[in-house]
Amino acid sequence: MENFDVVIIGSGPGGYIAAIRSGQLGLKTAIVEKDKELGGTCLNVGCIPSKALLTSSDHVTFAKKEAAKHGIVIDGVHVDLPKMQQRKDKVVKTLTGGVRALMKTNKVTTFDGIGTITAPGKVSIKSSKGETQEIETKNIVIATGSAAVELPFAKEALTFTEAPKKLLVIGAGAIGLELGSVWNRLGSEVTMLEFLPRIAVGFDLELSNLLQRSLTSQGITFHLETKVNAVKVDNGHATATATKGGQELKFEANKVLVSVGRRPFSEGLCAEKVGVEFDERKRIKVDKNFRTNIEGIYAIGDVIAGPMLAHKAEDEGIACVEIIAGKSGHVNYDAIAGIIYTNPELAGVGLTEDQAKEKGLDVRIGKFPFRANGRALANEDPEGVVKFVADAKNDRILGAHILQHAASELIAEAVSVIEFGGSSEDLGRTCHSHPTLSEAVKEAALNVEKRALHIVNR
Ligand code: NAI
Repeated sequence: MENFDVVIIGSGPGGYIAAIRSGQLGLKTAIVEKDKELGGTCLNVGCIPSKALLTSSDHVTFAKKEAAKHGIVIDGVHVDLPKMQQRKDKVVKTLTGGVRALMKTNKVTTFDGIGTITAPGKVSIKSSKGETQEIETKNIVIATGSAAVELPFAKEALTFTEAPKKLLVIGAGAIGLELGSVWNRLGSEVTMLEFLPRIAVGFDLELSNLLQRSLTSQGITFHLETKVNAVKVDNGHATATATKGGQELKFEANKVLVSVGRRPFSEGLCAEKVGVEFDERKRIKVDKNFRTNIEGIYAIGDVIAGPMLAHKAEDEGIACVEIIAGKSGHVNYDAIAGIIYTNPELAGVGLTEDQAKEKGLDVRIGKFPFRANGRALANEDPEGVVKFVADAKNDRILGAHILQHAASELIAEAVSVIEFGGSSEDLGRTCHSHPTLSEAVKEAALNVEKRALHIVNR
């Protein structure tokens, strides 16, 4: 029987990054994946393909609506959707192939099949052909991720080969807003139904409201405080029944996209049979070192508590195998950004203004609008704002929130400053190149009220 130091189950960003680090640390490592390709949800059907379609559809909007503002005349723009999908598939294939190559480079053995924990230190792998083999290992890392929550009444979460005339999106979170944007740009009439009184829950309310206003002006219709109770899909026709303020409403569409959240996934793993403990939300319970209650079994990523984000899983994967190797791995949960890749993009890290106030913290806010930033005007991207939440006592940055076409890149600077425990003054005194969008980040930091500030013992 083959013997390993570490066997990782699941090859999403959490699993494959952990495998690479484990190989780099000189541990004899294997990774087990049930799907045909490595890379998990993120690479195959999540983050990467959605970003490919978001970029392509953004170019469509540019060609149709923005180019003329630059004095570029483009006549007769039309979309070749099969070609757009082919490009997306090629991007995915390049990346999943790249992960397989990375496993080889880092001397990680790949097993294709469903991994089951038969006992602590023992994993059996059942291939798609039905063959089973068992391997032994000192440590197991569970990185099996998450799956979409399906409303019991609306099983079909559909992928489209042509832009539906009318698309209904249930849930205005990251997935709904991103995919709603794609199909809106590609010509669908998009209606979003959201149970809460706001979109993009978890993000700064003020910026979420600005995003909603922007997406509305792009043609998306929002119905907030609208709870979907039933969906019927019948022969290319969908009807959703919802309640809003005690009233029953009906929505008709050609297709429905259900994006009401994700749940931890551990089917087939049999972790419970070897005694691994789960919490009330079916997440695997771990301590701060990613140890489950069973010695030698660890878990990371979407299958444990915390935000379901690829980069959170990656950092946990690295920290977990470093701990297994006897080093001191660590994840700073205060410095993990969330991003919604609409246009403008919405990005946030740390506390929102409301969260800080709920915690009873005395905070100061600094803001800067992109309409006052030269580069944003030159780019014809004046929409959006940078907002900082700083501790009134010592000026430390507690949160940063950005709405802008390039917010996903701009937020990285704020993440670094938060990681280093920096203040808004630190950021404001840092020289930023001109003319850049990042100057707006600096200006927002300088805008944090410092009049009554006593900077002591930071
Ligand atoms: P989500 O949890 O972000 O949003 C789901 C929304 O659906 C919520 O606002 C909820 O109030 C609403 N909802 C639930 N039941 C409803 C009903 N019956 N009727 C109307 N509205 C209803 O979930 P989403 O967008 O599916 O994303 C899943 C996970 O994946 C999240 O944890 C998200 O952070 C992550 N993700 C992150 C991305 C990113 O960072 N760009 C992209 C895609 C996913």
